[in-house]
Parts: sequence; C-alpha cells; structure tokens
Amino acid sequence: MAPKPCFIANWKMNKGIAEAERYVKDFIKRYAETSLAPSRVIIAPPFTALQAVSKQVKCGDFEIALGAQNVHYEPHGAFTGEISAGMLCESGCQYVIIGHSERRTLFGESDEVVRQKLFAVRKAGMLPILCIGETFEDRRAGKTWDRLQAQLSAALTDDLMKMGLAENVAEWVIAYEPVWAIGTGETPKPGEVEEIHQQIQAFIRKHVGKGIPATLYGGSVSEQNILEFMEMPNIDGVLVGGASLSSETFFKLIELGVSEKQ
Ligand code: PGA
Repeated sequence: MAPKPCFIANWKMNKGIAEAERYVKDFIKRYAETSLAPSRVIIAPPFTALQAVSKQVKCGDFEIALGAQNVHYEPHGAFTGEISAGMLCESGCQYVIIGHSERRTLFGESDEVVRQKLFAVRKAGMLPILCIGETFEDRRAGKTWDRLQAQLSAALTDDLMKMGLAENVAEWVIAYEPVWAIGTGETPKPGEVEEIHQQIQAFIRKHVGKGIPATLYGGSVSEQNILEFMEMPNIDGVLVGGASLSSETFFKLIELGVSEKQ
C-alpha cells in the first residue's frame, strides 16, 4: 500500500521562536479550514524553536510531526555545541533529518558519521529522515546510483538490522536530494527521480526487508514543479527548503501534492 503523501519543511537556519510560532499558528489555521486528505506533515525548525513548535503542533488532532535538522550520535558528554537524540525526544521530536548534503559538505559529515547518527536516532525511538544525493560530478560521470548505493549501504548496516533497529523501516523517510538541485532552481526530470526511487526501494527491500519507507524528492521544489513530481507513483512526497519558509507557500505545496495523489 502506498504511504500517505509526506511533506517536510526544512527551515534550515531560519526563524527564531516568535517567527516560528507565528508560522505554525497560521499553518494550523489553514489546515483547520481546509479538508485535506490524510497526509504526513513534518516541520523541522532550528533547535531553539523546537519546543515552541512542539507545543503548537500538539493542539488539535492534526497530523503535524516535529523533526530536528541534526543530532549528535553520542548520548551525552563533552561535545560543546552538540545536541543528543535524548534531548530531541524530550523536546517533542519524532523525526530527525540525517545526512543532509549541507551537513555532509559544509560540516564534513562522512557516511560513517551518518551511520552513527542513524543508530542514535533509532535507539532513542525516533524516526530518521535519511537524505542521500549525488553531486553534479557524480551525475556527469554517470555515477549517480553508485553514489546513492554507497550512501545507503554505509547507513543501513547489518548490525542495525541485528539489533532490531530497522523493524519499523516502513515508518522512516528516505529523501533523495541531488546536491546540485538544492537551492539552485534546477531539478532532475521527474522520470529520472521516479527511476531512482524505484532503485532505492528495491535496495531497501533486498537489504532491510520489513517494508518500504516513504521515498521523497528534495531540491528546488516549488509550486511550479510539485505536480510533475507528485504524479510519479514512487515519489511519496517532498522535502522542501526555501519554499517551506512561507506557511502560505508550504501549505499550497501540500494542497497541490495531496490533490495529485488522490
Ligand atoms: P531547497 O532545499 O528546497 O531550498 O532546494 C531542499 C533541502 O535542502 O532539503
């Protein structure tokens, strides 16, 4: 069965507490006034706004979940400036974005670090939003799948399965985000993304079993292009950066996306 369409707002390093509260209030109002078909909506604010947003998303019976943009893999200790999975749980997070290309490229996170973060998130009982993506050079060299497969293999190791941490893989999110498409206005063709999503899902089926996570596309998603992506059967939703910063636009994306899947 196809998962509910899923929409993630990754605010990155934008919005303080007051602005976050205004956004969520406006967003919930729009949600309450519209009869949208069921969807999974995840908002990932900066750490400082997590608690404020978590209080608001808990009101009513809307299915809006809270996600963090990053986590440290150790449970506690002398790691100045870092936040642990336990702290995120306590702040109300159900999801954590792991392996975003900005973390990989700007902050030097290796595949091994991504693996450790995935462990930490699962051990704390939260759900990962695992991001993978090829660079423009990988694509030009015809090595897109090689890169994605390497990132998946490094994250989804046998011990994860042996420790029972992947039993609920069907509830996870995998986001395919080509590095060259993030924040650039450029995107791959929806048909290319569809093929890659099929490969990702086949990989999970073979190496993990236990179901298939929602498979999202991310990178320059906008009101102009969302329908083309969502009409593909194996694109279950989108991870949105820039266009999620306005509650009006993010809501519009959800409306469009959900209508396409009905
Ligand atoms: P973008 O960012 O929508 O601004 O391209 C997507 C992301 O980084 O997840």
